[in-house]
Amino acid sequence: MLNRDLKSVDPEISRLMEEEAKRQTFGLELIASENFVSEAVLQAVGSVMTNKYAEGYPYFRSKDAPEVTDYSRNGRYYGGCEVVDQAEKLAIERAMEIFGAEHANVQPHSGSQANMAVYYSVVKPGETVMGMDLSHGGHLTHGSPVNFSGLFFNIVPYGVDEKTETLDYDAVRTIAKKAAPKLIVVGASAYPRIIDFKAFKEIADEVGAQVMVDMAHIAGLIAAGIHPNPVPHASFVTTTTHKTLRGPRGGMVLCTKEWAKEIDMKVFPGIQGGPLMHVIAGKAVAFKEAMEEGFKDYQKQVVKNAKTLAESLMEKGYRLVSGGTDNHLMLVDVLASLEISGKKAQSLLGQAEITVNKNTIPFDKKSPFVTSGVRLGTPALTTRGMKEAEMKTVARLIDDVLRSGGDEEAITRVRNEVRALCESFPLYQYKLEG
Ligand SMILES: Cc1ncc(COP(=O)(O)O)c(C=O)c1O
Repeated sequence: MLNRDLKSVDPEISRLMEEEAKRQTFGLELIASENFVSEAVLQAVGSVMTNKYAEGYPYFRSKDAPEVTDYSRNGRYYGGCEVVDQAEKLAIERAMEIFGAEHANVQPHSGSQANMAVYYSVVKPGETVMGMDLSHGGHLTHGSPVNFSGLFFNIVPYGVDEKTETLDYDAVRTIAKKAAPKLIVVGASAYPRIIDFKAFKEIADEVGAQVMVDMAHIAGLIAAGIHPNPVPHASFVTTTTHKTLRGPRGGMVLCTKEWAKEIDMKVFPGIQGGPLMHVIAGKAVAFKEAMEEGFKDYQKQVVKNAKTLAESLMEKGYRLVSGGTDNHLMLVDVLASLEISGKKAQSLLGQAEITVNKNTIPFDKKSPFVTSGVRLGTPALTTRGMKEAEMKTVARLIDDVLRSGGDEEAITRVRNEVRALCESFPLYQYKLEG
């Protein structure tokens, strides 16, 4: 009954899996928030741990000493958790070690839920939160009116300077003094420069606010020590585990000891039920991989590749927001460069199996559905083993497509080159049919 393979049970889904594996294998993945996990992480996520309900935590916190994580007492509501308890403990300990945090909650199902847990721990409905404007690079959960953050809280946005297109900390301070927020959310989905967490902490202290850093995009760089670590400057640090950190899809909250009980209570029972134990096992595996020496080399290469791709595009006449990148991503202003929208650029590149996402640029006059820019990131291609030489090729291929005006022959030529490039950097050991 249980030994039934996917192909015989559900040929349709099986075929779609095969198609998706092919798409990932033979296309150039430049979406900055995506990556390819290891086979080890895939095994954990596809494991029997998916069967286990484990509401609660593998430790206990008493009312008298809420900051003490007491593993000698169990805080689960269901029996049979003794094995998954050990997996969650490993994930917690590894996360704390990597980032130097006092507490880690590895249960959030996603980055959005990690952020929600922090908001609900610190801010009451209607109170003020400062977050980076979505159109300047912030995330939906940093205060967009269509997201829970914008619906429940009074959001006062900050953004980048119009001229430098980088964060202006004095301007942030001025806004904070006027807004008197309870919480300042720091971090972005589309910001190509280093963020000065210490500066944000100083501003927050001046106005009596807490700091939450959402490091989702740059967590891998931070784990490898090539981007400043926000943990010493923030009561809360949230992240996804699936971007540069190269783990399974999911979220995590790091916090100081004094907030540990509150955060745990808000994740469960506050906003979630049973944790996804197979995903937590996958997070533990990814954290172990992040502690290996090779991970540091990988992250260094991600940044080198981004710099090379950015420089190669600029040499070809493209305008990049803020004039380049310090991290794993860049924003290309395709409207100013070639008079095409981000939407058009995404669609043209897609025809050549180059996957990117359209993205607003700061002070964009186009809507988020059209946009003036595209966001490019190097984590996924770097995982395949590509280096600077390939980045120069990728820049040329992008340029050929975007200047082709949709000419089919030109796009077919690029598509063939993309295929050949991908074949020289194999991904998984899947036996692809056809
Ligand atoms: C900065 C940032 N925070 C949070 C999230 C949300 O993560 P999830 O999609 O897992 O909810 C993202 C996702 O793109 C992000 O870029």
